[in-house]
Amino acid sequence: MTDPDLAVVRAENITKTYPMPGGPVHALRGITIAVERGTLLAVAGPSGCGKSTLLYLLGGVDRPTAGSVFLLGARTDRLGDAALARIRLHHVGLVFQRFFLLPTLTAEENVAVPMMEAGVPPPERRRRARAALERVGLADRAHHRPGQLSGGEMQRVAIARAVATQPALLLADEPTGELDETTGRQIGRLLQDLSRDGLAVVLVTHNPELASLADRQVRMRDGMIV
Ligand SMILES: Nc1ncnc2c1ncn2[C@@H]1O[C@H](COP(=O)(O)OP(=O)(O)OP(=O)(O)O)[C@@H](O)[C@H]1O
Ligand SMILES: [Mg+2]
Repeated sequence: MTDPDLAVVRAENITKTYPMPGGPVHALRGITIAVERGTLLAVAGPSGCGKSTLLYLLGGVDRPTAGSVFLLGARTDRLGDAALARIRLHHVGLVFQRFFLLPTLTAEENVAVPMMEAGVPPPERRRRARAALERVGLADRAHHRPGQLSGGEMQRVAIARAVATQPALLLADEPTGELDETTGRQIGRLLQDLSRDGLAVVLVTHNPELASLADRQVRMRDGMIV
Protein backbone atom coordinates (compact mmCIF):
# COMPACT_ATOMS: atom_id res chain seq x y z
CA MET A 1 0.00 0.00 0.00
CA THR A 2 1.40 3.40 -0.86
CA ASP A 3 0.40 6.71 0.55
CA PRO A 4 -0.47 9.26 -2.13
CA ASP A 5 0.94 12.16 -0.10
CA LEU A 6 4.38 10.53 0.23
CA ALA A 7 4.44 10.84 3.98
CA VAL A 8 6.52 8.11 5.56
CA VAL A 9 4.50 8.51 8.71
CA ARG A 10 1.29 10.37 9.31
CA ALA A 11 -0.66 10.75 12.55
CA GLU A 12 -4.21 12.08 12.55
CA ASN A 13 -5.62 13.58 15.69
CA ILE A 14 -3.90 11.10 17.98
CA THR A 15 -4.42 11.12 21.71
CA LYS A 16 -2.76 9.06 24.40
CA THR A 17 -4.25 8.67 27.83
CA TYR A 18 -2.65 6.55 30.52
CA PRO A 19 -5.12 5.32 33.12
CA MET A 20 -3.43 5.77 36.50
CA PRO A 21 -4.64 5.24 40.07
CA GLY A 22 -4.54 8.99 40.67
CA GLY A 23 -6.62 9.65 37.56
CA PRO A 24 -5.93 9.51 33.83
CA VAL A 25 -2.80 11.17 32.46
CA HIS A 26 -3.43 12.89 29.13
CA ALA A 27 0.00 12.60 27.53
CA LEU A 28 -1.19 13.60 24.04
CA ARG A 29 -4.32 15.64 23.40
CA GLY A 30 -4.86 15.51 19.66
CA ILE A 31 -1.85 15.73 17.39
CA THR A 32 -1.84 15.74 13.61
CA ILE A 33 1.52 15.53 11.93
CA ALA A 34 3.21 14.06 8.85
CA VAL A 35 6.86 13.45 8.09
CA GLU A 36 7.92 13.04 4.48
CA ARG A 37 10.87 11.23 2.95
CA GLY A 38 14.09 13.21 3.16
CA THR A 39 12.84 15.39 5.98
CA LEU A 40 14.36 16.12 9.37
CA LEU A 41 11.70 17.21 11.84
CA ALA A 42 12.75 18.55 15.24
CA VAL A 43 10.41 18.32 18.22
CA ALA A 44 10.98 20.47 21.29
CA GLY A 45 9.02 21.30 24.42
CA PRO A 46 9.20 21.12 28.22
CA SER A 47 9.69 17.91 30.14
CA GLY A 48 6.50 15.87 30.30
CA CYS A 49 4.80 17.56 27.33
CA GLY A 50 4.57 14.26 25.44
CA LYS A 51 7.56 14.26 23.08
CA SER A 52 8.65 10.68 23.77
CA THR A 53 5.05 9.50 23.73
CA LEU A 54 4.61 11.05 20.28
CA LEU A 55 7.75 9.32 18.99
CA TYR A 56 6.61 5.95 20.30
CA LEU A 57 3.21 6.30 18.66
CA LEU A 58 4.74 7.37 15.33
CA GLY A 59 7.10 4.38 15.43
CA GLY A 60 4.50 1.82 16.43
CA VAL A 61 6.18 1.17 19.77
CA ASP A 62 2.79 1.88 21.32
CA ARG A 63 -0.73 2.62 20.06
CA PRO A 64 -2.75 5.80 20.46
CA THR A 65 -5.87 5.89 22.61
CA ALA A 66 -7.71 7.53 19.69
CA GLY A 67 -6.81 8.76 16.23
CA SER A 68 -4.90 6.99 13.51
CA VAL A 69 -1.30 6.43 12.50
CA PHE A 70 -0.21 5.54 8.97
CA LEU A 71 3.27 4.20 8.34
CA LEU A 72 4.17 3.97 4.64
CA GLY A 73 0.50 4.32 3.92
CA ALA A 74 -0.58 1.38 6.05
CA ARG A 75 -2.63 2.03 9.13
CA THR A 76 -0.74 0.74 12.16
CA ASP A 77 -2.79 1.77 15.18
CA ARG A 78 -5.17 -1.18 14.87
CA LEU A 79 -2.51 -3.83 14.35
CA GLY A 80 -1.82 -6.56 16.88
CA ASP A 81 1.47 -6.81 18.74
CA ALA A 82 3.13 -9.25 16.35
CA ALA A 83 2.24 -7.31 13.20
CA LEU A 84 3.31 -4.06 14.83
CA ALA A 85 6.61 -5.57 15.94
CA ARG A 86 7.26 -6.75 12.38
CA ILE A 87 6.58 -3.30 10.93
CA ARG A 88 8.82 -1.70 13.53
CA LEU A 89 11.62 -4.13 12.84
CA HIS A 90 11.58 -3.49 9.10
CA HIS A 91 10.61 0.15 8.77
CA VAL A 92 11.54 2.02 11.95
CA GLY A 93 14.89 2.79 13.52
CA LEU A 94 15.07 4.02 17.11
CA VAL A 95 17.84 5.95 18.84
CA PHE A 96 17.76 7.00 22.49
CA GLN A 97 19.66 9.27 24.84
CA ARG A 98 21.29 6.18 26.34
CA PHE A 99 22.82 4.01 23.70
CA PHE A 100 21.61 0.57 24.84
CA LEU A 101 24.50 -1.27 23.25
CA LEU A 102 25.17 -4.81 24.41
CA PRO A 103 28.47 -4.60 26.34
CA THR A 104 29.83 -8.02 25.36
CA LEU A 105 29.31 -7.54 21.61
CA THR A 106 31.54 -5.62 19.22
CA ALA A 107 30.26 -2.57 17.37
CA GLU A 108 29.67 -4.67 14.27
CA GLU A 109 27.83 -7.36 16.25
CA ASN A 110 25.67 -4.73 17.97
CA VAL A 111 24.73 -3.26 14.61
CA ALA A 112 23.77 -6.73 13.38
CA VAL A 113 21.33 -7.52 16.23
CA PRO A 114 18.11 -6.13 14.65
CA MET A 115 19.03 -7.71 11.31
CA MET A 116 19.40 -11.04 13.10
CA GLU A 117 15.89 -10.58 14.48
CA ALA A 118 14.68 -9.66 10.99
CA GLY A 119 16.11 -12.91 9.61
CA VAL A 120 18.76 -11.35 7.37
CA PRO A 121 21.25 -14.13 6.50
CA PRO A 122 24.73 -13.85 8.16
CA PRO A 123 26.87 -12.78 5.17
CA GLU A 124 24.37 -10.07 4.20
CA ARG A 125 24.16 -9.06 7.85
CA ARG A 126 27.91 -8.57 8.07
CA ARG A 127 28.01 -6.68 4.80
CA ARG A 128 25.23 -4.33 5.86
CA ALA A 129 26.65 -3.89 9.38
CA ARG A 130 30.00 -2.83 7.90
CA ALA A 131 28.29 -0.49 5.44
CA ALA A 132 26.24 1.08 8.27
CA LEU A 133 29.36 1.58 10.40
CA GLU A 134 31.07 3.14 7.43
CA ARG A 135 28.07 5.42 6.93
CA VAL A 136 28.50 6.79 10.46
CA GLY A 137 32.28 7.10 10.06
CA LEU A 138 33.23 4.16 12.27
CA ALA A 139 34.58 1.57 9.85
CA ASP A 140 37.77 1.50 11.92
CA ARG A 141 35.94 0.75 15.17
CA ALA A 142 34.01 -2.34 14.01
CA HIS A 143 35.76 -4.67 16.43
CA HIS A 144 35.62 -2.41 19.49
CA ARG A 145 33.27 -3.25 22.32
CA PRO A 146 31.16 -0.40 23.78
CA GLY A 147 33.61 -0.03 26.70
CA GLN A 148 36.32 0.67 24.14
CA LEU A 149 34.39 3.51 22.45
CA SER A 150 33.75 7.16 23.31
CA GLY A 151 30.21 8.36 24.05
CA GLY A 152 29.85 9.91 20.62
CA GLU A 153 31.14 6.73 19.00
CA MET A 154 28.68 4.64 20.99
CA GLN A 155 25.83 6.83 19.79
CA ARG A 156 27.05 6.50 16.22
CA VAL A 157 27.05 2.70 16.62
CA ALA A 158 23.48 2.96 17.93
CA ILE A 159 22.56 5.04 14.87
CA ALA A 160 24.26 2.51 12.57
CA ARG A 161 22.23 -0.23 14.28
CA ALA A 162 19.04 1.79 13.73
CA VAL A 163 19.66 2.33 10.01
CA ALA A 164 21.24 -1.02 9.09
CA THR A 165 17.80 -2.56 8.60
CA GLN A 166 17.19 0.19 6.02
CA PRO A 167 14.14 1.70 7.72
CA ALA A 168 12.06 4.50 6.21
CA LEU A 169 11.65 6.27 9.55
CA LEU A 170 14.34 7.12 12.08
CA LEU A 171 13.23 8.32 15.51
CA ALA A 172 15.79 9.88 17.83
CA ASP A 173 14.80 10.74 21.40
CA GLU A 174 17.29 13.28 22.77
CA PRO A 175 20.20 11.44 21.16
CA THR A 176 22.71 14.06 22.29
CA GLY A 177 21.53 14.32 25.88
CA GLU A 178 24.62 12.57 27.24
CA LEU A 179 27.15 14.07 24.85
CA ASP A 180 29.25 17.23 24.93
CA GLU A 181 28.39 20.10 22.61
CA THR A 182 30.86 19.29 19.83
CA THR A 183 29.96 15.61 19.78
CA GLY A 184 26.27 16.47 19.90
CA ARG A 185 26.71 18.69 16.88
CA GLN A 186 28.33 15.79 14.98
CA ILE A 187 25.40 13.55 15.82
CA GLY A 188 23.00 16.27 14.70
CA ARG A 189 24.78 16.60 11.36
CA LEU A 190 24.78 12.84 10.92
CA LEU A 191 21.01 12.75 11.42
CA GLN A 192 20.69 15.60 8.95
CA ASP A 193 22.81 13.67 6.41
CA LEU A 194 20.67 10.58 6.90
CA SER A 195 17.53 12.60 6.21
CA ARG A 196 19.16 13.86 3.02
CA ASP A 197 19.79 10.23 2.03
CA GLY A 198 15.99 9.91 2.01
CA LEU A 199 15.04 8.88 5.53
CA ALA A 200 12.24 10.60 7.42
CA VAL A 201 13.92 11.59 10.69
CA VAL A 202 12.21 12.84 13.84
CA LEU A 203 14.58 14.34 16.39
CA VAL A 204 13.47 15.21 19.90
CA THR A 205 15.90 17.75 21.29
CA HIS A 206 16.11 20.52 23.86
CA ASN A 207 19.04 22.03 22.01
CA PRO A 208 18.07 24.98 19.77
CA GLU A 209 21.26 24.67 17.73
CA LEU A 210 20.44 21.05 16.88
CA ALA A 211 16.82 21.91 16.19
CA SER A 212 18.01 24.55 13.75
CA LEU A 213 19.47 21.78 11.55
CA ALA A 214 15.94 20.54 10.94
CA ASP A 215 13.84 21.22 7.85
CA ARG A 216 10.90 21.79 10.13
CA GLN A 217 10.50 22.41 13.86
CA VAL A 218 7.50 21.86 16.07
CA ARG A 219 7.09 22.79 19.70
CA MET A 220 4.85 20.88 22.06
CA ARG A 221 3.17 21.90 25.26
CA ASP A 222 0.86 19.84 27.44
CA GLY A 223 0.26 17.11 24.85
CA MET A 224 -0.34 19.45 21.96
CA ILE A 225 1.61 21.09 19.16
CA VAL A 226 1.69 24.84 19.74
N1 LIG B 1 3.68 4.58 30.61
C1 LIG B 1 3.16 5.67 31.18
N2 LIG B 1 2.20 5.57 32.11
C2 LIG B 1 1.67 6.67 32.68
N3 LIG B 1 2.03 7.92 32.38
C3 LIG B 1 2.98 8.10 31.46
C4 LIG B 1 3.60 6.98 30.81
N4 LIG B 1 4.52 7.46 29.94
C5 LIG B 1 4.48 8.79 30.04
N5 LIG B 1 3.55 9.20 30.94
C6 LIG B 1 3.20 10.58 31.29
O1 LIG B 1 2.86 11.22 30.06
C7 LIG B 1 3.39 12.55 30.00
C8 LIG B 1 4.28 12.69 28.77
O2 LIG B 1 5.43 11.90 28.94
P1 LIG B 1 6.64 11.89 27.89
O3 LIG B 1 7.59 10.87 28.34
O4 LIG B 1 6.07 11.73 26.53
O5 LIG B 1 7.22 13.35 28.05
P2 LIG B 1 8.51 14.03 27.36
O6 LIG B 1 8.02 15.26 26.68
O7 LIG B 1 9.22 13.03 26.56
O8 LIG B 1 9.37 14.48 28.62
P3 LIG B 1 10.98 14.52 28.82
O9 LIG B 1 11.48 15.75 28.12
O10 LIG B 1 11.16 14.63 30.30
O11 LIG B 1 11.55 13.26 28.26
C9 LIG B 1 4.11 12.77 31.32
O12 LIG B 1 3.26 13.47 32.16
C10 LIG B 1 4.36 11.36 31.85
O13 LIG B 1 4.34 11.36 33.25
MG1 LIG C 1 11.09 12.10 26.71
